[in-house]
Amino acid sequence: MKDTLFVNIGRLAGILPKGVRKLCGHEMDKVESLDNAWLLVRGGKIDSFGQMPCPNYIASGFQTEDLSGKMLLPAFCDAHTHIVYAGDRRQEFVDKINGLSYEEIAKRGGGILNSADLLHNTSEDDLYEQASQRLEEMMTNGTLSMEIKSGYGLRTEDELKMLRVIRRLKENYPVTIKSTFLGAHAVGREYAGRQQEYVDLVCREMIPAVAAENLADFVDVFCDAGFFTVEQTDRILKTGTEYGLRPKIHANELAVSGGVQVGVKYNAVSVDHLERTTDVEMEVLRNSDTMPLMLPGASFFLGMPYGRAKDYVKAGLPVALASDCNPGSSPSCDMRFVMALGCIKMRLTPQESFNACTINAAAAMGCADIAGSVTIGKKAAFIVTKNVMELGFIPYFHHTPFIDRVIS
Ligand code: NIG
Ligand code: FE
Repeated sequence: MKDTLFVNIGRLAGILPKGVRKLCGHEMDKVESLDNAWLLVRGGKIDSFGQMPCPNYIASGFQTEDLSGKMLLPAFCDAHTHIVYAGDRRQEFVDKINGLSYEEIAKRGGGILNSADLLHNTSEDDLYEQASQRLEEMMTNGTLSMEIKSGYGLRTEDELKMLRVIRRLKENYPVTIKSTFLGAHAVGREYAGRQQEYVDLVCREMIPAVAAENLADFVDVFCDAGFFTVEQTDRILKTGTEYGLRPKIHANELAVSGGVQVGVKYNAVSVDHLERTTDVEMEVLRNSDTMPLMLPGASFFLGMPYGRAKDYVKAGLPVALASDCNPGSSPSCDMRFVMALGCIKMRLTPQESFNACTINAAAAMGCADIAGSVTIGKKAAFIVTKNVMELGFIPYFHHTPFIDRVIS
């Protein structure tokens, strides 16, 4: 964006000092703000900010925009999405309404495998168009940093197709995107009954091919009942790490899977889902650099328990929230809805939920140095609100439009 001086900001919220990479426990219940502020964006980054009036030596040199008393917030960060997919799974939506569970649909060969079939028959250009629309929806809803996964390919060429689409999104949109290789999302149809051979394929062919084209930042595995075991996950994370991919995994969605432990063992940037966890997982995470990330949109859509976010916060741990946007378990990319579920269903305060959707979410995808707060030197990525001055109104009146526009 052009260098711009924003003046008459009614409230500048989400301010953090330089160097804060995440908020833990009681620190999460605070969102620092400054009323009646100015903020200068220079070279696409936050250069400086302060209370009005803006000093003359700054005010004289830059194009100025008057925000007329509106609130300026750091944009949402969504650290777990599957927005590159083809078509939809409308029949499964009806099957679920009629009583089939996510696992039953998967066992019948539907679910992720349905998406893999659709993706196989979709060209890279078409896939890009479909994903772009979702990305634009995310931007409109205030998300300007996001992680996007592969995992609907399940064949080397199709996994690469997905990751190339993510690369094109990175090139063409003014947002921060992190890319995750999730070849071990399910066992591809051709490998039905030969799971070990599929894991071989992931380790021997897919990971080297992904690394050769430098297509991913992270490696992910769906470590859960009916999907990949702890031993298989261990092997995939070890291989990924050798190829320079940091782990970031799906764990404990369907069962207490051991996924948290294996994720922490390989210093995962985050372990995601956590709908089913005991105090043991909490202790494992306490002494780690791994962010616990929960996905309340999946709990909402599949009728699963919600992650124990409040217990984590009470125990002094950090928590991040994300949308999990995908056609099977969480067909919404709206982080405001995620923030509202964080409050209403997980009993986080609005401040805790906001921090879980911004700074801690940025940490959960390794970009807390450039995103997730109003901090000098971070990328300019903001939400300008309509006349909402109270952060708590965002999750409280959770369907009233609150975004005037986004800035990036
Ligand atoms: O995070 N749990 C595994 N993967 C996705 C669902 C993917 C799908 O059903 O398409 C998730 O919920
Ligand atoms: Fe997911």
